Amino acid sequence: MSVLELRAVSKRFGAIQALSGISLKIEAGEILGLMGDNGAGKSTLVKIISGNFLPSEGEILVNGQPTEFHNPLQARRQGIEVVYQDLALCDNLTAAANVFLGRELVRWIGPVPILDYGAMYAKAAELFAELKSETRPRDIVRRMSGGQRQAVAIARTRLSNPNIVLMDEPTAAISVRQVAEVLDLIRRLRDQGIPSC
Ligand SMILES: Nc1ncnc2c1ncn2[C@@H]1O[C@H](COP(=O)(O)OP(=O)(O)OP(=O)(O)O)[C@@H](O)[C@H]1O
Ligand SMILES: [Mg+2]
Repeated sequence: MSVLELRAVSKRFGAIQALSGISLKIEAGEILGLMGDNGAGKSTLVKIISGNFLPSEGEILVNGQPTEFHNPLQARRQGIEVVYQDLALCDNLTAAANVFLGRELVRWIGPVPILDYGAMYAKAAELFAELKSETRPRDIVRRMSGGQRQAVAIARTRLSNPNIVLMDEPTAAISVRQVAEVLDLIRRLRDQGIPSC
């Protein structure tokens, strides 16, 4: 059974036909590369799979089950992690806060939850080290280079145990050394049985 299957997915934005009859299957442990010219519809496809857009036509199946995502949270709950082309980071927050955005770690003092910054900084540092990135967990994203921002967006996908990781041009802004690390990361995801697209 495919982890993800698209059946004849189309997307129109008013008069623009961004996607027309896209069908594909991704199996566990598969790496699938999608190529297309600027404006071909790659980002639109990623946004449909990740719950940002509903398709105009067609069907999406996750683990063989027909699925409709009305927002990105629903897709994330089904184990779909995304690195968006525009990275979708909050510029005013630290690298660690962006990595943990929406799934912050808390510790409990009696019945009161307190954000566990120590644990989040430590885990974020671990993820950046794994990516061989110079990004520091306490740095504010606004002051970061393109490559550091990309590392933050990629590190975010490593928090959960996803079923599939979608990466929209994830190496566009990073250094040659980091490209090798991201490709290595994609292979490691595959070895864990997680497909990447
Ligand atoms: N929100 C939107 N509203 C209207 N049109 C859109 C929207 N998003 C994308 N489009 C259009 O859909 C088409 C596909 O765009 P998309 O961004 O998916 O291409 P892409 O393959 O990712 O391109 P690139 O390589 O430049 O990132 C383009 O014609 C674009 O103008
Ligand atoms: Mg794009």
